[in-house]
This record gives sequence, C-alpha cells and structure tokens, in this order.
Amino acid sequence: MRIVCVAGARPNYMKIKPVMDALEARGAEVVLVHTGQHYDAAMSDVFFEDLRIRRPDHFLQVGSGSHAVQTGRVMAAFEPLLEELRPEAVVVVGDVNSTLGCALVTAKGGALLGHVEAGLRSRDWEMPEEVNRVVTDRVSDYLFAPSPDAVANLRAEGYRTDQIHLVGNVMVDTLLANLDRALASDVLGRLGLARGEYALVTLHRPANVDDPAALGTLLAALDDLSRECPIVLPAHPRAAAQLRSSGMSERVRVIPPAGYLDFVALQASARMVLTDSGGVQEETTVLGVPCLTLRDNTERPITLTEGTNQLVGRDRERIVKTALSVLAAPPPGRCPALWDGRAGERIAAVLM
Ligand code: UD1
Ligand code: UDP
Repeated sequence: MRIVCVAGARPNYMKIKPVMDALEARGAEVVLVHTGQHYDAAMSDVFFEDLRIRRPDHFLQVGSGSHAVQTGRVMAAFEPLLEELRPEAVVVVGDVNSTLGCALVTAKGGALLGHVEAGLRSRDWEMPEEVNRVVTDRVSDYLFAPSPDAVANLRAEGYRTDQIHLVGNVMVDTLLANLDRALASDVLGRLGLARGEYALVTLHRPANVDDPAALGTLLAALDDLSRECPIVLPAHPRAAAQLRSSGMSERVRVIPPAGYLDFVALQASARMVLTDSGGVQEETTVLGVPCLTLRDNTERPITLTEGTNQLVGRDRERIVKTALSVLAAPPPGRCPALWDGRAGERIAAVLM
C-alpha cells in the first residue's frame, strides 16, 4: 500500500514523523512530500536532523507568498505528483496552507485523504488556520481527532461516526520519543540560563506580530515581566524583523528560532512559557510547565481544562497579573487521555 505523507512547515514535521514510522512498521510504502512552505535551515533542516526524519522523496519548493499564491503553488505542484504516484491514500497534518492545498488536490485526485489533528476549532474566522482546518476536514475521508472536544466538534458538524477516529496526539508521540535526548541538550548552558528561573516566549500569529500596536502591547507586558524573571524569545522569521524595529527591552533575550531538541529543553526547564503557538500549548501541558497563551481563544481547549494553559489575551495588565500569580503558585495540570505516545500507531492501524 502506497501512502503519501505531507509536511510543509515547522509544526508539521513532528506530527508526520510518528505516522510515517507506524505506517512503515506495518509494511506501507511511505512517500514523504515536503512542500517547502518553510525553507530556512532553522525552520526545516534542523527538524529533519533532530527528529531523524529521512530526506523527503519530493520537494515542491513553494516558498513564501500571500495565502492565495502559497496555497495555489502547493496545489499546482502537488497535482502532477499525485497523478504520477497514484497512492492509495494521502495523509496531511495540522492546519497550515500546505495542509489545505494538498487536501484539496487529493479530494479531486482519487486517493483517500486522512487529516491528522481533525476537529480542532477556535471559532475565530480571522485566523487563516481556522479556514484551513474546517475546509481540510470537509474534504477528508478519515478524521483523526486528538481529543474528545475535537470529536464533539466533528459530530456537531454532521460527520459520519465511522469517519471520526479518536487517536490521541501525534505531537506528544514525538515529544515523548525525544524527551531524553532533548533533556541532554546543553542549550541552557550555551544561553547562560538557570533551570526553573526564566520565562520562554514565542510569538508568530499575524494578529500578534503583524500589527505594531498589538505587538507593542505584548512587548510592554514582557518588559514588565522581565523585571521579575529573565526572558528568552526564539524569534520566528515572521516576528524577527518587527522585533528588531520595535525597541524591544534589553532584558528580553531574542535568539534565532531554536531546533526541536533545544526548544523542548528550553520548555522543560522554563518557569513559565508565554506563547501564541498551538503546539507549544500542548507540549507545556504534557511537560507540566505553566503556559500563558497570548490569544483570546484556543482550538485546543483541553490544554485549559486539563493542562497548565491559561488564555490571557493581549491586555498588558492581565498578562502581567496572571504571570505574577503563576510565578507565585504554578497551577497543577494533568496529561489528557491518549496523549500517551501511541497516536501514530492508532492512525496506522485505521489506515491499513
Ligand atoms: C505558518 C502557518 C501557521 C503556523 C506557522 C508555524 C499558514 C497560513 N500559517 O505561519 O499556521 O503556526 O507556520 O511556524 O500556513 N519565512 C522565512 N523563512 C522560512 C519561512 C517563512 O523567512 O523558512 C518568513 C517569510 O517572510 C514569510 C513569513 O515568514 O513570508 C511567513 O511564513 P508563512 O509560511 O507564510 O507563514 P507563518 O507565519 O510561518
Ligand atoms: N518549536 C521549535 N523551535 C522554536 C519554536 C517552536 O522547535 O523556536 C517547536 C515546538 O516545540 C513545537 C512546534 O515547533 O513542536 C510548534 O510550531 P509553531 O509554534 O511554529 O507552530 P504552531 O504549533 O503554532 O502551528
């Protein structure tokens, strides 16, 4: 059985790897396609090395562009490849433009389509990812949900029960598989950080980094917080230029995007994480590290109800007040059911 697995951007690599491994263990012929949505060494190559993913079989080189240009390039490049490969199924992960582009092509191209991370909903139509999630689910044959809330969303939207599979969280498969190697990283020493004493920050949502007023408010909050504990911020390329021109406080240490093992090490030893990332909300929940999400909503509510995550929005006072209370008394968290390192195996069992 030939199955095409698609990855295109940073959060895709850690999601596709356990699915590939489990499919290959069951005897499938896996063809790995990298769309090239992310292409910098720090946004792509480092993850192939850290996660020991083999070189992609096909590289579509779509690069950056507006939503229409990027999604269109993915579609135009993926269509002839799908015709050539004629796989039984295609697996897409997450909610990036590459996910949507390959999903649309597959839906019309004859292969079965599986969506890993189906059913997540922020109900915020200003997020491009919400459009990608809803449309990808709509054209998928197999909906692999990470949590019961995602299953409930899919049921409410009228999907057939036999399409929906509660399989757990593939991002957690990769986290657990690599945790020991990550904890052996010397990144804290290299950055001069002490275990349990700093806050780790990531920012890359357009709503936070593209609007100078919104970014200015977040940076003011980080400046306030940096008086209480050191802050390190590995900057996503979307944020890097804005951070340079924004007069960021010197107490906030901006560094290049971190590799996976270093970033997991930084999360695991942080006193607290402040982020607008989807995946980081999940990883902090599993690591039991307090997480403040710098958004008004989340498509991952289980990290709020069971994990360590709190939504703090974009209000300076609220962010600082919540951060200080977390520093004083870190909230407890527990790991959601099926976030156990075996989601990839469950997906492969269904597909095969
Ligand atoms: C994308 C995803 C987002 C995901 C994020 C993970 C969409 C719509 N967005 O956002 O859901 O959370 O990836 O990191 O798919 N750039 C580089 N080097 C790179 C890649 C990008 O410099 O290797 C710069 C380019 O200027 C580019 C910008 O970053 O225009 C944005 O890249 P893009 O892939 O369009 O969106 P992200 O913000 O990375
Ligand atoms: N990550 C990383 N280095 C960084 C920031 C994040 O390795 O500097 C990892 C993080 O551990 C998680 C994934 O990238 O596995 C999350 O990707 P990102 O925040 O870019 O996207 P999102 O999850 O928001 O779509």
